[in-house]
Amino acid sequence: MNILVLGGGGREHAIAQKLAESAQCDQLFVAPGNAGTAQIAQNLNLNPTDFDAVAKTVKDKQIKILVVGPEAPLVAGIKDFFDKNEDFNNLMIIGPSLKGAELEGSKERAKIFMESHNIPTAAYQSFTADNLDDGKLFLDTLKPPYVLKADGLAGGKGVLILKDLDEAKIELTNMLTENKFGAASQRVVIEEFLDGIELSVFVLTDGKNYLTLPNAKDYKRIGEGDTGLNTGGMGAISPVPFADEKFMQKVETKIIQPTIKGLQKENIDYKGFVFIGLMKVGDEPFVVEYNVRMGDPETEVVMPRIESDLVELFKLTAQQQLDKAELKISSQSAATVMLVSGGYPEKYQKGKVIQGLTNVDTNEVTLFHAGTQLENNQVLTNGGRVIAVTALADNYKKALEKSYTQIKNLCFEDLYFRKDIGFDLN
Ligand code: AMP
Ligand code: GLY
Repeated sequence: MNILVLGGGGREHAIAQKLAESAQCDQLFVAPGNAGTAQIAQNLNLNPTDFDAVAKTVKDKQIKILVVGPEAPLVAGIKDFFDKNEDFNNLMIIGPSLKGAELEGSKERAKIFMESHNIPTAAYQSFTADNLDDGKLFLDTLKPPYVLKADGLAGGKGVLILKDLDEAKIELTNMLTENKFGAASQRVVIEEFLDGIELSVFVLTDGKNYLTLPNAKDYKRIGEGDTGLNTGGMGAISPVPFADEKFMQKVETKIIQPTIKGLQKENIDYKGFVFIGLMKVGDEPFVVEYNVRMGDPETEVVMPRIESDLVELFKLTAQQQLDKAELKISSQSAATVMLVSGGYPEKYQKGKVIQGLTNVDTNEVTLFHAGTQLENNQVLTNGGRVIAVTALADNYKKALEKSYTQIKNLCFEDLYFRKDIGFDLN
């Protein structure tokens, strides 16, 4: 069976790796991919949001499963695009329809969904430029810190958490009237601050049945001790030590089940991943956000712990037969540390030679490439996040030790990584 994975980051490398391990996988393609995916699949120079080009490739390469890695093609309606064309009736797509993708594409939509299905989340109201003054009055009723969220996709940058009321009012104004986050902030969700510890839960669903995949915690800030600017993610561990069985049972009954039932009740065609960002407040889970894809770098710790055949899981997902699936998860812990380019998440340079790749002990760690590119047989940096170094061990501390030991073999100009992943878990 030929498979095409759309995307080119560490997430897609980790998914592709798992697919490549399956006996059911014949030819594997990744578009656009990176220097890591080039080792296990054929990279295609294709823009995942150019649906006509994707369709041509699906035909030319006789693709049977199309796995959509990032959110952009989903929110742009890739699933609906293929569903409309009879030629692709038999194509299995891993990724929700447009209606499903709105759970990530619009914060307000996600809030309304949670409200309708009694899913615990922070209290909120949403505003546009037309009722900016009401927004300011709403802020007056809240306690600091104030959480302002651009409604639309803003590349993970659209959330502001502010301690000062006046500053919150100014930023609300900037978002609504000065296009602070472009079109994404034409509508702003203001919500109550949840004081707790974050974790992510991943679900694979066919819209009716679901499998709860390994959970994970990522480290979003650039600086040690969770300081500085937000990034896409600087490292992750799985499973999350504080998400014990009792807590995960609550997540299952209060969050995951009502989410899947909600999709069914609203007739949403959803065959793909649901990434549920949670806040554990006391012993209770609250949803911070839905994403309609896997997380990055969470995938780099989730996939290595999945022992089942991923091609089989995807087939059952597309056929709406996930109730027949058997999910085997490794009891080992996984940790990943992201190597990034100096300056990231602000300005950084690309094109630096990555040295030492062959010195890394691949019995100890797996390298998932993120922003890398092959040029004249050299692997060069090609993004802010460059390589995720993942290890498995009996516990997350040992896994981290393995990653940090092997990172010493790698080098490129201005290489930076956080040395304190997992620091808050003792
Ligand atoms: P989001 O894009 O909605 O996940 O928000 C980005 C980040 O902001 C989250 O990962 C949290 O760290 C933080 N955040 C979002 N909403 C809240 C909230 N209501 N209370 C506390 N922190 C929040
Ligand atoms: N690591 C967070 C995300 O993928 O959205």
